[in-house]
Amino acid sequence: MMRFTVRRDLLPAIANKTEAVLQACDTFTSAESSDSEHELPADVAAQLADSTLKSVSKRLGNSEYMSGRAQTISKLPHFKRDEIEIGNLIDHGGFAAVYEIKSISKPSELTVHKKKRYVMKNATQTETTTFQHLTTRAKHLAIEGHFLSSLDHENIIKLRGWSTGGLLSYKSNPRLDAFFLIFDYLPEMLTDRMERWAQEQRQRVPFWLRRPRVTASDTLLCERIKVGLDIASALEYLHDKRIIYRDLKPSNVGFQSGNGTLKLFDFGLAVELPLQDDLDQAYKFPGRAGTRRYMSPEVLLERPYNVKADVYSFSILLWEIMALRKPKLPGAHLQVNIPNVKASWPAELKDILKRGWCMDLMSRAHMKEIRYRLSRLHSSLVTKERLEDL
Ligand SMILES: Nc1ncnc2c1ncn2[C@@H]1O[C@H](COP(=O)(O)OP(=O)(O)O)[C@@H](O)[C@H]1O
Ligand SMILES: [Mg+2]
Repeated sequence: MMRFTVRRDLLPAIANKTEAVLQACDTFTSAESSDSEHELPADVAAQLADSTLKSVSKRLGNSEYMSGRAQTISKLPHFKRDEIEIGNLIDHGGFAAVYEIKSISKPSELTVHKKKRYVMKNATQTETTTFQHLTTRAKHLAIEGHFLSSLDHENIIKLRGWSTGGLLSYKSNPRLDAFFLIFDYLPEMLTDRMERWAQEQRQRVPFWLRRPRVTASDTLLCERIKVGLDIASALEYLHDKRIIYRDLKPSNVGFQSGNGTLKLFDFGLAVELPLQDDLDQAYKFPGRAGTRRYMSPEVLLERPYNVKADVYSFSILLWEIMALRKPKLPGAHLQVNIPNVKASWPAELKDILKRGWCMDLMSRAHMKEIRYRLSRLHSSLVTKERLEDL
């Protein structure tokens, strides 16, 4: 477990000046600690709250969708940090750490079902960090909270709770984990599932155990197309709301316990497009948001883009789900690699992939078309399986 300490030698001269704090607190060091102590000096915590609030309002301030009726964050259960007992670190990504929640002392709808498991996502991440990193992480977390409190789709994770006071909790409780979000625990990630599929594919079924026409690979194909279809449904829903997800990859997709419903999570990079009629209009965004392996050519090359950047990432991910191999990283000079498709894959699937990873933004399909064609393909595979099962 990491504990963050601020370079106190750099602090005295910087009181109350954002710029100065940004520079002077530029280096944080981490130390091993048995319990997760994440204290911050009060002035640094206050600056963290203020500068994060400023950049979050800048990003969400123009939002037509976020500022309206859709926002429900204030109605969600909220907790102080000390009302929640956390357990082990489950995992961390590029921006946040996710911990299991052991217990919640304040009664709420989250404490009604004793067996339901929740996780806490906070900004206590990585060994060495800077003040700039901290504000970026806190900003991502806040943006994620705002988006997820406004979205309602079966394949998108639900925000269950958050910290009392939101970003201001950094001020009332000067700790790195004072601001947090609460989600349902997802016991399986897409990365785990793809490993299982790869194992199943390697295990050859002896021919005397095979059913006459339906092969294990047909069932596997159907299961994998369904996963693609669920991700496509979530993206189609987001694109209808003019939201670009921007970080599609296996480690941001999980499965709920019980019914195993697919859930897309990690909305820290999501961005909303201006309300305009033309969904094909491209916009310039600062930097390259996302993960290189799944990045569309226009994002890699820092050119204007739109919701179709997600369509490209989706096609690469769908290829990975089918091939059960990691897609190649873009080569030198940011040359994207179009993966090979197997001759044995259904022709419709091959065509869907081709339409999705088309280099030219204008010729690339929208998620609506992809989702529709995948759903038809899935239904035909289910029917085939049923008929052959008779
Ligand atoms: N609800 C959850 N249940 C279980 N594990 C989770 C959950 N959310 C995230 N994780 C794990 O934590 C990792 C990091 O979370 P994520 O939300 O993707 O943060 P980051 O923004 O840092 O990428 C995920 O890749 C996943 O392994
Ligand atoms: Mg992630």
